[in-house]
Amino acid sequence: MSNRMWGGRFASGPAEIMEEINASIGFDKRLAPQDIRGSLAHVAMLGKSGILPSADVAAIEDGLKTVRAEIEGGGFVFKRELEDIHMSVESRLTEIVGPTAGRLHTARSRNDQVATDMKLWVRDTLDSLDEQAAGLQRALAEKALAHAATVMPGFTHLQSAQPVTFGHHCLAYVEMLARDRGRFRDARARLNECPLGAAALAGTSFPIDRHATAQALGFDRPTANSLDSVADRDFALESLSAASICAVHLSRFAEELVVWTSAQFNFVRLSDGYTTGSSIMPQKRNPDAAELVRAKSGRVIGALTGLLIVMKGLPLAYSKDMQEDKEGTFDALQALSLCLAAMTGMVRDLKPNADVLARAAGSGYATATDLADWLVRELGLPFREAHHVTGRLVGAASARDIGLEELSLSEMQEAEPRITDAVYAVLGVENSVSSRTSYGGTAPDNVRTQATRWLALLDAPSGAA
Ligand code: ARG
Repeated sequence: MSNRMWGGRFASGPAEIMEEINASIGFDKRLAPQDIRGSLAHVAMLGKSGILPSADVAAIEDGLKTVRAEIEGGGFVFKRELEDIHMSVESRLTEIVGPTAGRLHTARSRNDQVATDMKLWVRDTLDSLDEQAAGLQRALAEKALAHAATVMPGFTHLQSAQPVTFGHHCLAYVEMLARDRGRFRDARARLNECPLGAAALAGTSFPIDRHATAQALGFDRPTANSLDSVADRDFALESLSAASICAVHLSRFAEELVVWTSAQFNFVRLSDGYTTGSSIMPQKRNPDAAELVRAKSGRVIGALTGLLIVMKGLPLAYSKDMQEDKEGTFDALQALSLCLAAMTGMVRDLKPNADVLARAAGSGYATATDLADWLVRELGLPFREAHHVTGRLVGAASARDIGLEELSLSEMQEAEPRITDAVYAVLGVENSVSSRTSYGGTAPDNVRTQATRWLALLDAPSGAA
């Protein structure tokens, strides 16, 4: 049998394999709520604009609500021969209200319909990702406040660099998430134009009111060019790109958790709730959740790359290629949501091992810069020269496998005769971190101020990013 929706000029139905490659119902059925919402706005507008009589509008509205209830109740049967969600809904509507259902598609096409549905879905998803990211920021800021003075090694090149505080490290991710949230919001603001009424590609001759449908669906305005309206998937690309950056942030943090929970580092302890055991090695506590967060960034970036390649070189306006926007977008944004949830749980539960961190913070000559700074400040040495003197002292200490603070004063004075006892004060990690009071620096007071500022911002009604 030829397709009931578009089969007028077809004598026979599609080949089996055609149906399989063509159908999107398997994955776009999740757009049912958005699709019905769009149809309700469209039919109400058709009525108000005098295009459809109110009796037809009422019948279609009732029918759409019935379809919605059937889908929500799980009783709706999705059929592959109906191709996609748009035709599935319309077909069922026809069974319920009869031929009047056919009037719903006046001044509309599946091309503007699917663009509208996708925008509505992506918009809702961006809102919930923003909220989840705020939740993770809150968890991190709370950890930061609790550990504003917990010293740990700071790294560059994954080599001990200078001591920092655990709270400072947590707040670095709060900043990253703030930019992520900014990107989610930017993407949302830019996508918020309604394509409905662009019809197939050229607009329509019916006197529709696109401003009314845009408003009814919570869009800021209708899109201004009908070709662009149905050909645009920037909103998905932009959201995936924001999602990819966020996923990369989470992946970096996840990698740190994997390293930090290893027996060799032992910097933090993840709760039982976020670790797994090994079936053969009883001592193991594997950070599987962190590993999966690290890995899932691959899916998100893959979806972005995939869709960029789908869109590249597509002529205006709609091409069926664009149906391939869905699975990747759904999968990627869902994966990110799961990663945010898992990360929030891990952060809430994790416990830094303060003793191990303090010991590690002092190792690797992490206070060498403090010594060089002291030479500059107290003895007026140019920084380059101070760097050189310090280098010699580090060399002397490491040759004997001792810490800088274990060198005697006379050994120090061999490198620079004017060094005094007072130098030992700056060689301790606590002193090191509390001296880093420059704006944005790691001093515990700074960390407390920043963590408190974030917690207040996050509790404000706007949940500001
Ligand atoms: N299922 C299609 C999609 O996801 C809907 C649009 C179909 N339009 C068309 N002219 N065949 O893109």
